[in-house]
Amino acid sequence: MTVVDRGARPLGPAEPVRPVHVLRAAGVSLVVAAAVDGLPEVLHWGRDVGQIADTDADDVVLALGRPVSPSAFDAPWPLTVLPTERDGWEGRPGIAGHVDGAPLVPRWRDARVASDGMELVVTAHSDVLALRSVFALDGAGVLRVRHAVTGRSDVPVHLQALEATLPVGERVAEVLDLGGRWTRERTPQRRALTAGSHARESRRGRTGHDAPTLLALGTSGFDDEAGEVWAVHLAWSADAVHRIDLLAEARPLLGAGELLRAGEVVLGRGETFTTPDAVFVWSDEGLDGVSARFHDSLRARPGHPRRPRPVVLNTWEAVYYRQELAPLVALAETAADIGVERFVLDDGWFLGRRSDRTSLGDWRVDPAVWPDGLRPLVDRVRELGMEFGLWFEPEMVSPVSELAVAHPEWLLQRPDDDVRTWRNQYVLDMANPDARAFVLEAMSAVIGEHHVEFVKWDQNRDVVHAVHDGRAGLDAHTRGVYALMDELRARHPWLEIEACASGGARVDLGVLERTDRVWPSDTNDALERLPVQRWTEVLLPLELIGSHVGPEVSHTTGRHLDLDFRMAVSLFGSAGIETDVTTLTPVELDRIRAWTALYRRERGLLHTGRLRHLDLGDPGLATTSVVATDRSRALVRVARTATGPQSLAVPLRLRGLDRTRRYRLAPVAGIGVPHGLDMVPPQWIERGFLELPGAVLEDVGARLPMLAPGTAVVLECRALD
Ligand code: GLA
Repeated sequence: MTVVDRGARPLGPAEPVRPVHVLRAAGVSLVVAAAVDGLPEVLHWGRDVGQIADTDADDVVLALGRPVSPSAFDAPWPLTVLPTERDGWEGRPGIAGHVDGAPLVPRWRDARVASDGMELVVTAHSDVLALRSVFALDGAGVLRVRHAVTGRSDVPVHLQALEATLPVGERVAEVLDLGGRWTRERTPQRRALTAGSHARESRRGRTGHDAPTLLALGTSGFDDEAGEVWAVHLAWSADAVHRIDLLAEARPLLGAGELLRAGEVVLGRGETFTTPDAVFVWSDEGLDGVSARFHDSLRARPGHPRRPRPVVLNTWEAVYYRQELAPLVALAETAADIGVERFVLDDGWFLGRRSDRTSLGDWRVDPAVWPDGLRPLVDRVRELGMEFGLWFEPEMVSPVSELAVAHPEWLLQRPDDDVRTWRNQYVLDMANPDARAFVLEAMSAVIGEHHVEFVKWDQNRDVVHAVHDGRAGLDAHTRGVYALMDELRARHPWLEIEACASGGARVDLGVLERTDRVWPSDTNDALERLPVQRWTEVLLPLELIGSHVGPEVSHTTGRHLDLDFRMAVSLFGSAGIETDVTTLTPVELDRIRAWTALYRRERGLLHTGRLRHLDLGDPGLATTSVVATDRSRALVRVARTATGPQSLAVPLRLRGLDRTRRYRLAPVAGIGVPHGLDMVPPQWIERGFLELPGAVLEDVGARLPMLAPGTAVVLECRALD
């Protein structure tokens, strides 16, 4: 690492006045200029600008230097990596708080920058704080920013905000983030960028059904395929701020940080607060380009699931709380027969849990329902060649439970507070070591005894006025939840975890550091689920997104949907089934058996390839493609969600093929409705295939069959040479 120490070393005449540091990877660069006074400044984050020679450093600084604007502070000022009004910045600060009532506006000294080309570390200190900021660019071009401050004063420092910000291109014009609700998570919302400081706050105490998931700024008209986009996501499972500042006298700033409550973080001498990672992604290939970087970055993690993602059967919508050995064994036998590889016993197996009114916290197998324990079921599941998974909701306690009676002091609230219940439950304080140890031991006993391979880790309420040790406690609790997951995995290294929170209220990269997939929504209505999955895919690759074939009549909407459509939707994910398969006809079971075989054949492609969302010019179509990394194959799902404007079906135009190779395009047998509603389907569909160069399939395309709303076709595109 080269260390530039402005304070300690006079600069020689040949050295630039302000050394410039560059991180570069995968077509992205971050250019940081050393501090003038205070902290360093980001000059550029976006398209790769190449190496910057020392001899060019002064000119780069001059090129982007901010002159004094009219009616402004008298001297030029830098937009630093942690901007405050001391610098001259009058937008939302990067750091805020107070020291004994006086505002915390640190005067940073001795700023140093150390960089090895992929990671850049800034250190500095003020009278009361030491700062360490890390900017780490990975091989996918994803930039993670993390600040840490340590108290260095006997007077405690009350921290109100510590947020990561980066400047984006001045040509941004539009903003996109997500909202949502239970069973309709991650709905996009788009608007023009307007002046001012805009903070999108999440105060759900968990990531939330309406979490922004990402906050993106883009050039005018950016879409899935095109446009320059700068986006940020906070890798954190609780309260958050995603923020944009557009001030007349500065470049637009994008950022994110943990939302801290008053008194939540108070730093004595030597105490450190480290922010969650703010994950920044730039692309000039629209939203799919942003997603590709997120996906590549996640797939490169050492802990990314590498084993093929098994076909799951989850018992929830099959039996709900009616757990009995014989019907569940029958369910397992049918499941194994149709190709299921992992059988997951959902809520209802533990002491007295006959409804959602009781028992959270009492993680012992209920002898009233399971007189011989879970052993007979687990043994049968194993004999059938499947893995066994089990549902827990570790952070919660029902008022009606042995745990609540024994340990009322373990709640995440003031003892005398009247916190509202939600789904008849309270939150356990996971920052309390005794409470956490209790949950760890209780879970470990069941997981260890049955060698449980998979935990569906649920969290079914928002967390409000959380108090730990007399202070706002959400930060400590959330870190405690992470620690519990880490401890559990350390004890049971084979264990996989699914992050679920009333469906998809915990979809974030913080929880995904210690889990293997998310449950994106409680809606198994495939039509409703399509957009939920599409917008979960903006952050996550398909292998991390649970996707189950639900019942013919959806339990959340009452809609009837054909099995083929439900299977086509679930295929593009970490696939499974969530319906009582013992009630299906032999013909339906045959169709599901063919589908699980198809999934097993194609998961290698689906879980490693490049995902794209194709706009075919018909708003009633949702089209998703996955192209193999070597471009030899692609799978495409075209789903009709509403009727289209034209009498003729539009052509399917692909993206990401090798334009010079020839491909065979054909509907995949056994799934979807290749012939659609056409009186006379396109001739090539009648023949069964087309063979054309990649360039023709991309630019001209092949006319699709006319599909009815609620139907889909899945096509394969295979290189011929
Ligand atoms: C939550 C989950 C569901 C199911 C139930 C069980 O709602 O999202 O999938 O596990 O809890 O109570």
